[in-house]
Amino acid sequence: MEQLVIASNNAGKIREIRELVEGVELLSLRDIEFTEEIAEPFFTFEENALAKASAIHQFSGKNVFADDSGLCVTALNGMPGVDSAHYYGERDDEQNLQKVLTELNDAEDRSAFYKAVICLIWNDDVYYFEGICRGQIINEKRGDGGFGYDPVFLPDGYEQTFAELPLSIKNQISHRGKAVKLMVEFLKEKLQN
Ligand code: IMP
Repeated sequence: MEQLVIASNNAGKIREIRELVEGVELLSLRDIEFTEEIAEPFFTFEENALAKASAIHQFSGKNVFADDSGLCVTALNGMPGVDSAHYYGERDDEQNLQKVLTELNDAEDRSAFYKAVICLIWNDDVYYFEGICRGQIINEKRGDGGFGYDPVFLPDGYEQTFAELPLSIKNQISHRGKAVKLMVEFLKEKLQN
């Protein structure tokens, strides 16, 4: 079976992606014994995803994909965006979420979207897949599933937050779910030929 490395150490993300990808052997960074922190110094999701995928590809020589994702809040001019993981200053999901609520204060426009960009390096060629999920930021946390900003993110068309919805539903509608599905379709074609 073909191998594919997921360039992430985020347990929540890895769990979500494993649910979606079949037909290839998925390896984590731990499986390939990659222990370094990869910097994400850029201003776009695409550049950060490419930086992560390239670093792992150079290290392992294997096919690899990296995703970079974040929450873009309209009333905050698209912030936290690429800074979603360390909006508060460090990687702390709870503090990051509280900072968004504080900054939003009583803003009327609560609209936001999650965006995910996957960079796939497959047989030395580079491909990108993108997914967006639109919704609203509510005032108080609800639910304890998911991760990150999920307890305050209410996806359009649903009455439960991403932290209340079962993972199977989140994966059908989420930014990452959509981007991963596009990549899976692409890989199915590649694996057939
Ligand atoms: P990355 O690891 O640089 O891609 O950072 C992604 C960050 O965006 C996470 O640490 C979360 O703060 C946020 N994020 C991305 N996707 C999700 C999601 O599905 N739920 C909640 N937060 C997310």
